[in-house]
Amino acid sequence: MSAAVDLRRLTTPQDLFQAAAEEVIRTATTAVAQRGRFTIALSGGSTPKNLYTLIAANASAMPWAQMFFFWGDERHVAPEDPESNYRMAKEALLSKVPIPPANVFPVPTENPDADAAAAAYEQTLRKFFALEPGQFPRFDLILLGMGPDGHTASLFPETAALHEKSRLVVANWVEKMKTHRITFTLPVLNAARCVAFLVSGADKAAVLREVLEGAAPPEKYPSKLVQPTNGKLIWFLDRAAASQLTTPG
Ligand code: 6PG
Repeated sequence: MSAAVDLRRLTTPQDLFQAAAEEVIRTATTAVAQRGRFTIALSGGSTPKNLYTLIAANASAMPWAQMFFFWGDERHVAPEDPESNYRMAKEALLSKVPIPPANVFPVPTENPDADAAAAAYEQTLRKFFALEPGQFPRFDLILLGMGPDGHTASLFPETAALHEKSRLVVANWVEKMKTHRITFTLPVLNAARCVAFLVSGADKAAVLREVLEGAAPPEKYPSKLVQPTNGKLIWFLDRAAASQLTTPG
């Protein structure tokens, strides 16, 4: 793991969410002051829901009209599906704050063809960031979680998307789930100004040690592959998740 990793070890899950919320607010206000806008890619799953709720509770601190929301990955389900990462973020945050609808870019999962949905989302990124061929978008902040198998976004161990070097967004077949998941590729994650993992709970402790300290092949623990080329990498950890790390906390 890169020496430039910023481990932020908090005690409780609530401390973790508070620290992460402060980082989001700080990053957003700095980006808007410096570049006139803030681009963020949200993660899904259950962990970030509490962060989104906390951000909504501090809505007055955020420059919503200059903030632009994307998703680093999405399940291939309808936007109103309980499994939808978009639905979770909308319920926890986006429906509670004065963000212009035009600033929110969900993955077009209503398309029954996962590859087409991924390709359409890629075009959305290319247009929004005005990318030249071969360029990758540089998000101000990408939020990520980590699964108990070491996956992040929808980059699961031993899946094809881990080897994608030119596409921005792909539909990744996940055999153990028997479904496609639409995900940013590693070049997009590693092009970000800042990537922040949020990892909470004892069930993540063993795999977190593997990711941060182990020597296993990265394909077994895809979170190891997230190493921003020219950006910050922050790990927000609670005590339970960090409990098996050997590095002094
Ligand atoms: C998703 C997420 C996924 C998630 C991890 C951790 O779509 O589920 O993007 O990568 O971050 O699975 O999920 P938890 O935070 O729920 O443990």
